[in-house]
Amino acid sequence: MPSVSDSKCILVIGSTAGIGRALALAILDLPSKPTVIVCGRRKERLDELVASHNATGRLKSVTLDVLAERNALKSSIEEIVNTYPDLDAVLFSNGIQRAFDFTKPETVDLDSLECELATNYTSIVRMITFVLPHLIKLGEQGRPTFLYAVSSGLSIVPAAGVAGYCATKAAIHSLSISLAVQLKEKNVHVVEILPPLVESELHDFQGTTQRLSNFWLSLEEYTKVTMEGLVRGDPCVPAGGVIEEYKKFEEGKLEAATQMYGQFKTMTQA
Ligand SMILES: NC(=O)c1ccc[n+]([C@@H]2O[C@H](COP(=O)([O-])OP(=O)(O)OC[C@H]3O[C@@H](n4cnc5c(N)ncnc54)[C@H](OP(=O)(O)O)[C@@H]3O)[C@@H](O)[C@H]2O)c1
Repeated sequence: MPSVSDSKCILVIGSTAGIGRALALAILDLPSKPTVIVCGRRKERLDELVASHNATGRLKSVTLDVLAERNALKSSIEEIVNTYPDLDAVLFSNGIQRAFDFTKPETVDLDSLECELATNYTSIVRMITFVLPHLIKLGEQGRPTFLYAVSSGLSIVPAAGVAGYCATKAAIHSLSISLAVQLKEKNVHVVEILPPLVESELHDFQGTTQRLSNFWLSLEEYTKVTMEGLVRGDPCVPAGGVIEEYKKFEEGKLEAATQMYGQFKTMTQA
């Protein structure tokens, strides 16, 4: 089973903080010695990361706002591919979370909700579309390539207070399954990462970090468990409490979607 250990060069989008940062550093430490490109908006964070962890020279950085206008985002992704032609994996860890109270609809800030949708979902579909020609080309040359999408346990069982966020994660969850089924034949392996509540900066915006820190999985523990799944080449990598939820509600879905894809092709082909 191809796994993260087969990757020679991986771009981690959303690695100035939290889960993306921790996974980027853990991947950098793999015995396979990949090049890791850290990426996000905050240049000072990227500079600090590279300055403090680049003894090997394999840690690179790119500043990117995933909310950039569509053509600008396309140019940025193409520039990354041109600079790093060995790029064979992209991990999407960019994300924000906003709370909305639909019992008081006048308080629902649609600008904020749409920004959350664009950050957590639309931008990722765009970037996947822009990077796929390159990954498919490598795949056809016999090199396994990878797309890693960070969804959430909340993609399976939503937390109603963050309804918009959960919907974006359910969208990523569904997209990951469809793309895993479609792209397998192109040697592009799509892996979904489903974290539970994990230590990070995600909840700073809502001011709930202090309270949630009593319940979250430490970043160290989370990274250890997730890296084990990524190195094994698991198609879905849940952790903590999400493992049970995944077993209860999701097991067999990927296989069912594979079967559905076959039936769909038979039904629609002339
Ligand atoms: N922590 C949890 O409990 C938890 C649970 C389940 C799933 N997740 C998911 O895990 C992923 C990582 O979140 P985290 O918890 O590590 O949160 P975090 O510490 O807040 O990190 C979020 C990352 O997303 C990047 N980002 C946000 N907006 C961006 C934009 N417009 N352009 C580029 N990068 C952007 C941030 O970089 P810049 O701000 O520098 O751009 C940062 O590196 C997210 O998809 C989140 O939904 C988290």
